[in-house]
Formats: sequence, structure tokens, C-alpha cells
Amino acid sequence: MKINVYNTPTDDVKQHDIYILIDILRATSTITTLFYCEAKKVSLFGDIEKAKQQKEKDNNIILTGERNAIKVEGFDYGNSPLEMILNKNNIKNKEIIITTTNGTKAFQKIYEKGEVIALSNLNIKSIYEYIENKNYNDIGVMCAGTNNNLSLEDIYAAGKFINFFKKDLILNDSAKLALNISNQSKDYIKKSDHSQRLIKLGLIEDLNYCFEENVYNFFGKSKKGEKSMYKHIINGGV
Ligand code: MLT
Repeated sequence: MKINVYNTPTDDVKQHDIYILIDILRATSTITTLFYCEAKKVSLFGDIEKAKQQKEKDNNIILTGERNAIKVEGFDYGNSPLEMILNKNNIKNKEIIITTTNGTKAFQKIYEKGEVIALSNLNIKSIYEYIENKNYNDIGVMCAGTNNNLSLEDIYAAGKFINFFKKDLILNDSAKLALNISNQSKDYIKKSDHSQRLIKLGLIEDLNYCFEENVYNFFGKSKKGEKSMYKHIINGGV
């Protein structure tokens, strides 16, 4: 298995069999949680204005997202996974548009190249099981980072993911680094820059939730060229 990790979003993305999007704090954790709340679909937008225009066309759409970790003015919800759980009944069966500072922007770099899966600590194992059952030999892992800098928590999760693939690994340097970082303790990773920012904003519960591991057997997945993710459930590793 060939695995290529990108530390931060770049225009120089190679062609891979499948793409994994990682923004542990908090976009991909929130997307996963939106599917726990039974959202019908989650569309990842890079732009706030375009998201608002969609809502003008269809008032049933729920707008979620943040800029610099703060809820966007006029949006229904921010980018807090726990806020989604609190509003589970409103989210059920709804179309959600999410736009975030780094996570949904990183998605724009890869969605036209192939299938994309939103990975969080909450569902790494189910994503591994999905890929293991396909004939994929080459995975592109896009870490969102924070404002063009590497985020420790994204690299950590990338390493946890790579750890599941036991044999014949061909890794780029960032993937090797990720494997190394995944040996660090969670306490160490929770001292990352973005973790500290969330703590200062009073969001420690979000932080702790985003570090829970393998609690869901599903993930959000988009088809090549599509901005919307749908829930994909893994039953018995299929
Ligand atoms: C991002 O996309 O930059 C993050 O998800 C920020 C956050 O809400 O913590």
C-alpha cells in the first residue's frame, strides 16, 4: 500500500485511488457527528457567501461553520460537534452545508480528483476496514492544518490510520513522520496550537470528544467531483 500524506492543503496533489480528509479540530469530527445525528447529506463549501446563497434558494438547508473557530454570523450552528448532538432532532434528515477556516478549504483541493472520506479519531477503524475491502493501492491523505501550518492532531490521526495497514507500506516522508507522531500520548497531542486555542475559547469538551477513538462504524464520503458527503456504514468490515 502506498500512502502519501500532505501536511497542509496544496495545489500540488497527485492522483491517488482515494483521498482521506483530516481536520480533527474540528471539521471532520463535526462532519462525522452530523452523520451520527442522521443528517441526510453534508456539503462542504469553501465560501461563506456561496453557502448563504444556497440557503436563500432552499430555506430547509442548515448552515454550519466557523471562521477562526467562531460561528459565522447568520449561520444556524458553528463548528462544534457537541452543538450538533444537542441539536440532533433539528439535524435529522436535513441537508447541511458546512464551511470552515481550513477543513472545507482543504476539501476543495481534492474533491475533483476522486472519492473523499472525512476521517476523525471517532471512526478511523471503520475507514480502514472500508479501504481494506477495496482494491485500493494508493491513498492520498490531506491534512487541513491551521492557516497553512501543520497541525499536530491531524498528523497524529493520519499516523493512527496508517498504523492499521500492516504490510508492504510505501510511505512519503510526511507519512513516516505521522507514524512516529502517532506514538505520542494523547496528552502531548492535546497541547497542540489549535487545542490550546479551543481551550481558551472554553471548548475543552469539544476537544476531549474529538480525541475519542473508534466510537462510530460510519463515515462521510463524497463521490469524485461532488461536494456532498453521504453516510457510509460499515457492517462487519464490508
Ligand atoms: C477549521 O476548519 O479550521 C477548523 O475546523 C476550525 C475549528 O472550528 O476548530
